[in-house]
Amino acid sequence: MRVGVLTGGGDCPGLNAVIRAIVRKGVKEYGYEFIGFRDGWKGPLEGLSIPLDIERTRGLLPRGGTILGSSRTNPFAIEGGVEQIKKNLQAQGIDALIAIGGEDTLGVATKLHSLGVKVIGVPKTIDNDLNATDYTFGFDTAVNIAVEAIDRLHTTAESHHRTLIVEVMGRHAGWIALHSGLAGGASCILIPEAPFSIEKVCEYVESRYTYNYAPIIVVAEGALPQEGSAITKDGTLDAFGHVKLSGIGEWLAQEIEKRTGKEARVSVLGHIQRGGTPTAFDRVLATRFGLHAITAAHDGAWGSMVALQSTHIVRVPLASATEKLKLVDPALYAESEIFFG
Ligand code: F6P
Repeated sequence: MRVGVLTGGGDCPGLNAVIRAIVRKGVKEYGYEFIGFRDGWKGPLEGLSIPLDIERTRGLLPRGGTILGSSRTNPFAIEGGVEQIKKNLQAQGIDALIAIGGEDTLGVATKLHSLGVKVIGVPKTIDNDLNATDYTFGFDTAVNIAVEAIDRLHTTAESHHRTLIVEVMGRHAGWIALHSGLAGGASCILIPEAPFSIEKVCEYVESRYTYNYAPIIVVAEGALPQEGSAITKDGTLDAFGHVKLSGIGEWLAQEIEKRTGKEARVSVLGHIQRGGTPTAFDRVLATRFGLHAITAAHDGAWGSMVALQSTHIVRVPLASATEKLKLVDPALYAESEIFFG
């Protein structure tokens, strides 16, 4: 069998570990051939590919990013895009496609499967918001990067008696903010699932100063004030119609200064959260996903996605990954509130 592999959407630590595991097991156990498609769905769309074998995938385990490149190309937004993909897959003699991606990439994979393409999905996002899997690789790395930043910000915040705001990724789901805020001892965590009262945030800030500490607020980029709407960068949309976020941290700093008279500054972690080497947890999860994805292809389980449920890697229908987002449960968020202020 000849298998194509692609990585789509925002990159994520652990992508290379998945590719390495797919190829290692596919070659050693099943004798398959591989090609890697470049830059997400752009690869099969434009016929851009590179050969993949054990030699070319050695040494990838700790390497961040993706050797295949990534993009947010949406073939369903391009006239004739789907036919072009089918034509290119046939021309390259591809029997199976493994798509490693998040909501958008797997959404495309689901539709292509319904149109007859033999596809297997591997879930990926630092945001951890994909349904049907307990965790996605990349999330643990992003949380650890954010915690290191928060630990560092605590000491400088205390020296200057400042409020420091840390803006982390999380468009619709506040998993990174919640986990890094809890692990980093934040004075307040703001997530998209729970619109916040700016008055309440200022109360937390004031109360933290009474203990002679400096407040650290962790805010997800998609968090919203109760009165108001999401703060966006410049209103531009990507190929899947998502608006670029970022700005909520700066807005909070200005409001806190205005309302409390205390100096407030923001650090936007941005793409630092997605870069660099994966943690051991993410390397193991990514490797297990890769091993199970190639076995799913071997079994002909087309239209399925590998997922982590408890400690087991299981197969779920591709469509279940994208039918809804996995948001932070209000009860889980409420647990963290005891530490606010
Ligand atoms: O991968 C998802 C994500 O991390 C979102 O939280 C964030 O809004 C987005 O990526 C930003 O990605 P980019 O800047 O690459 O479009």
